[in-house]
Amino acid sequence: MDLPKPRLSNNALLTRIKQLFWFHSIPLRPGITTPGLKTQAILTAEEAALTSGIDFKGRSVLDIGAWNGYYSFAAKRLGAARVLATDSFCWTHPKFRGRETFELARDELGLDIETRLIDPTEITPELGSFDIVLFLGVFYHLFDPIDVLQRVRSVTSQLLLVETHQDLADRTEPGMIFYPGATLNHDSTNCWGPNPALMRHLLNQLGFARILYRHYPHSAGETMNRGIYACLTPEADPALIAKIGPEWRDLDAPGMIPALAAEIRA
Ligand SMILES: C[S@@+](CC[C@H](N)C(=O)[O-])C[C@H]1O[C@@H](n2cnc3c(N)ncnc32)[C@H](O)[C@@H]1O
Repeated sequence: MDLPKPRLSNNALLTRIKQLFWFHSIPLRPGITTPGLKTQAILTAEEAALTSGIDFKGRSVLDIGAWNGYYSFAAKRLGAARVLATDSFCWTHPKFRGRETFELARDELGLDIETRLIDPTEITPELGSFDIVLFLGVFYHLFDPIDVLQRVRSVTSQLLLVETHQDLADRTEPGMIFYPGATLNHDSTNCWGPNPALMRHLLNQLGFARILYRHYPHSAGETMNRGIYACLTPEADPALIAKIGPEWRDLDAPGMIPALAAEIRA
């Protein structure tokens, strides 16, 4: 039987937090928040853009690329019955030590969240089937994002949320820009910038019956062109998104792609 871990003193917790690199700002105790590159204000606004009106209650949730775990914890907070957090790149990175950060925050918050060390390129249906899949900030890092999107589809039973950097959003032709080396934000892990027209076709082709989209022009500390996609399978429970707001636009609606492109050009 596992004995409960002794609770760290505030000082010991602060020392541990300072030893680690944080992408997410996660409030752990009154007065103690992890110092993430994504500030609490950015995360609060981003979480609202991603999840407002989406019914997480009682659902199973897969978080792909969880890093420090903010969105796994948010899913649980929003009522998910089961959350599986996965990652590999940042969880095994010697500077980021992401798995340690995730486990420190999860244990401190006392949340029942499963973890699995798996790279998105290795996802197969063996991982299970999840009502809601979070694929946030990962697509554009992947050398072959289309293969991974196919894998992600294979584990999504109802709703996939994709958040990504994008490019060419002022164009109506489906397209994706490749960034060689470290040409996007001096980060060699940034590979691609797709546009909404491309995402619509890819997601349709992968069997999503409805694709909703909203512009989201922020990222950690920088203003970037980001987009969020809520993709529903044919089997999705309509109650999942019954309360979402008008900022979500149906990409298959007549004239929607030209209208979005014109908004970006304006
Ligand atoms: C920008 S962070 C996003 C973290 C979190 N999902 C969010 O939205 O705040 C990118 C995530 O993608 C994961 N990832 C997977 N494959 C990657 C790759 N080839 N290069 C960089 N990051 C990758 C990282 O481990 C990390 O968790």
